[in-house]
Amino acid sequence: METGLNMLIKQESLIEWAREKSLPYKELMSYYRCAMMEVETKFKVLSEDFSVKYDRNPIQSIKLRLKSPDSIIDKLSRNSWDISIDSIEKNLNDVAGVRVICSYQSDVYELADALLMQDDVELIARKDYIANPKPNGYRSLHLIIAIPIFLHNRKKMMKVEIQIRTLAMDWWASLEHDMKYKKDLDFSDQILRELHECAELSDAIDRRMEYLNQQCEKL
Ligand code: GTP
Ligand code: MG
Repeated sequence: METGLNMLIKQESLIEWAREKSLPYKELMSYYRCAMMEVETKFKVLSEDFSVKYDRNPIQSIKLRLKSPDSIIDKLSRNSWDISIDSIEKNLNDVAGVRVICSYQSDVYELADALLMQDDVELIARKDYIANPKPNGYRSLHLIIAIPIFLHNRKKMMKVEIQIRTLAMDWWASLEHDMKYKKDLDFSDQILRELHECAELSDAIDRRMEYLNQQCEKL
């Protein structure tokens, strides 16, 4: 039987493996970084194209994040998946994350559709938490895609998790995330209710602002 200390040492050495030692790990992370850059460029191109068409920029900001070695090992262990390079590629969809913050809800769908139309983008999964918000009120459009990166001697398909949301959805999700993770506690029913209410209010404002913008565009 493994003692707590043994497990701790095992965990530490795995983190060390990922962080310091393994060239294949570094290589894989660099491929994920390349894939994020490809996706970022695709959104920048779409933004440029949209801004000429609509005379406004639909994208407020784009954020890239690579999952840390600790979180990768944590997720693999939690799901009893192998801790190996192959297992990371096979089992994890969210090593490379791209978050696109838009002005309006219609921008979210237009950008997603325009991205998915591209013939080098393969859709793996789509979760529409705007049409079907999570029970806590969380809203965003999530896409898992695979895109090719072109290395010096070959082409490699890489998975990227994309979250597309409005400023209002991002505002709510960022604050809720901070509250949840800073304290590492379970919310009481009352806090859950109020957070849900805030998400609904925020959604109502989002829709109202979009309506106002449509009115402005008609002027
Ligand atoms: P993970 O295993 O945690 O990656 O989630 P999943 O595979 O069940 O996917 P899901 O689409 O539910 O969530 C993926 C990501 O969306 C999370 O890592 C967060 O960044 C974001 N997210 C999902 N739900 C919430 C939420 O309730 N609050 C906040 N702030 N973010 C959320
Ligand atoms: Mg995740």
